[in-house]
Amino acid sequence: MLPIASSIADVRRRVTEAKSQGKVIGLVPTMGALHLGHGELIRQCKRDSGFVVVSIFVNPTQFGPKEDFSRYPRTLEADALLCEASGADLIFHPEVEAIYPDEREAMCFVGVPKLTTLLEGASRPGHFQGVATVVLKLFSIVGPDLAHFGTKDYQQLLVIRKMATDFNLPLEIRGVQTVREPDGLAMSSRNRYLNAEERQAATVLSRSLRAAVQAVDRGERSADRVRQILQATIESEPLAQVDYADVADAATLEPLDQLRPGSGSVALLAVQVGPTRLIDNMTLPG
Ligand code: PAJ
Repeated sequence: MLPIASSIADVRRRVTEAKSQGKVIGLVPTMGALHLGHGELIRQCKRDSGFVVVSIFVNPTQFGPKEDFSRYPRTLEADALLCEASGADLIFHPEVEAIYPDEREAMCFVGVPKLTTLLEGASRPGHFQGVATVVLKLFSIVGPDLAHFGTKDYQQLLVIRKMATDFNLPLEIRGVQTVREPDGLAMSSRNRYLNAEERQAATVLSRSLRAAVQAVDRGERSADRVRQILQATIESEPLAQVDYADVADAATLEPLDQLRPGSGSVALLAVQVGPTRLIDNMTLPG
């Protein structure tokens, strides 16, 4: 059975031992309720390093007051099996009190101002501050050489890269492509909230993104036209409601007017499907 460390001292001791054996340390931060997308992160992390730590921690500081923190799925036993099958060496599964011993009001937070006012940041105030803070804490607890994150959470990946650069963190951040269900739905822990009808409707996210990619492939250069394609495709699904559907610069996430060849761009979505909010994105060609 894969060891599960719940204290900071225990995880540090085990990582120090692996380092003393000359192993490269990899970290895959997660909130659990693991699926094959997480499995792919762990597999790629194991390919790139000698000792893989998977953290499983539902981080309260990244959830808004009306969000799903208390009902977020917690499935530690199944998670441990997937971690082991994917090549992990250690699970770090702390209690909330181990990570946040102080009252919230007394805490230091990491701010990543510019990247976090748009898109997810605009819809979920404080979310990325909570993400950046917990990820910095995990980096400082584990001390990895490499950490793997999914492009499924595109803005999150940019925020973490920026934090790592600006704080001169001595590690490398690697991005991993989104793993999808056969019908295109991006795998997500929140997919398990969907009933059968909503699950069917949720394919509208990847369908609309593919329609956007195809339009750009056919020569569409107006970002507004691409936004309209995203919007119209999502609106054709009665159970789905658009939170945002945008076309942005791939590096800065600033909204674009025109898609210029050679300058990276990405289409990003947040869609409410029944009571469940889902996000997805695709890089646009060109
Ligand atoms: P969580 O949603 O559990 O995701 C953990 C990691 O898995 C993230 O890097 C995410 O981008 C990646 N991931 C999720 N779905 C994926 C998919 N379908 N394909 C590939 N990778 C996927 O993201 C978080 O947790 C938290 O914000 C965290 C970074 C752990 C901080 O609390």
